[in-house]
Amino acid sequence: MTTKININGEIKDEAFISILDHGFLFGDSVYEVICTIHGKPYFQDEHLKRLYSSASGISLEIPHDQDWIKKQIQITLDSAGNPESYVRIIVTRGVGDLDIDPSSCFHPNLIIFVKNIPQIPDESYEKGIPVALVSIKRNSRDALDPAVKTGNYLNNVLARVEAQKAGAADAIMVNPWGQLTESTTSNLFFVREGRLLTPEKGCGILSGITREKIIQLAHENGMSLEEGAWPGEELLKAEEIFLSGTVKKVMPVSILDNRPVGTGKPGPITQKMMRLYSELLESLA
Ligand SMILES: Cc1ncc(COP(=O)(O)O)c(C=O)c1O
Repeated sequence: MTTKININGEIKDEAFISILDHGFLFGDSVYEVICTIHGKPYFQDEHLKRLYSSASGISLEIPHDQDWIKKQIQITLDSAGNPESYVRIIVTRGVGDLDIDPSSCFHPNLIIFVKNIPQIPDESYEKGIPVALVSIKRNSRDALDPAVKTGNYLNNVLARVEAQKAGAADAIMVNPWGQLTESTTSNLFFVREGRLLTPEKGCGILSGITREKIIQLAHENGMSLEEGAWPGEELLKAEEIFLSGTVKKVMPVSILDNRPVGTGKPGPITQKMMRLYSELLESLA
């Protein structure tokens, strides 16, 4: 169980960032999380593509190319030597003046944080988790576009805190127009009248890599799937709900706002997708 931090190409057991780094001061940074299967990072190209697209979304130039980052990820994984790893790549604006203007920051910091993969209890997958529809809204696309994966997660932090106060493990947010978007660190899928539904990108979501793979799997396996815009109340009628993300993969939701979802157990479509996604990951290894 080793943690290794690669900071601008140097591997360390512990690393420190200046308090004048704008990533620390203003959340002025972008990041990605990649996990490994049998020691190999999966969907790495997709994650790195999104990292560069997020950086361009905040006019931040990453000082290295994707091959350099890939090489550094591998060196850091080798150095940590964990059976399975969680890899967080962070690019910050760098050190500058104590002012939001980024033009005083000349050297972005590139950090690759490798640690043992977090263990999610089997019980969560077997029974599903409780979530709450919260009052905190997902950012509108013309404010801080949720499609850009920045280090500014305060919106989602507040949503998670509200959900926890309501006795739930995670939150589902609507956009400023009341349409369903996503959870705090995962995308949202739900089933209505036997059809798998997921909020479309236009609602203001992160275009999750896991979400894309699930959509592809649904199409390949003849499952009916629709991307669209639905009001928050629609979720209350869902027969099944699940969340998707790199770390949690396909996570069933059994309780919404203290009421059981469908039978209160992971439903057949959720279970099928859990199986298909896990087979997909195994096939990569
Ligand atoms: C807000 C948000 N939505 C969705 C996701 C899921 O994205 P992915 O499947 O690429 O991990 C994440 C992952 O961190 C996230 O932070």
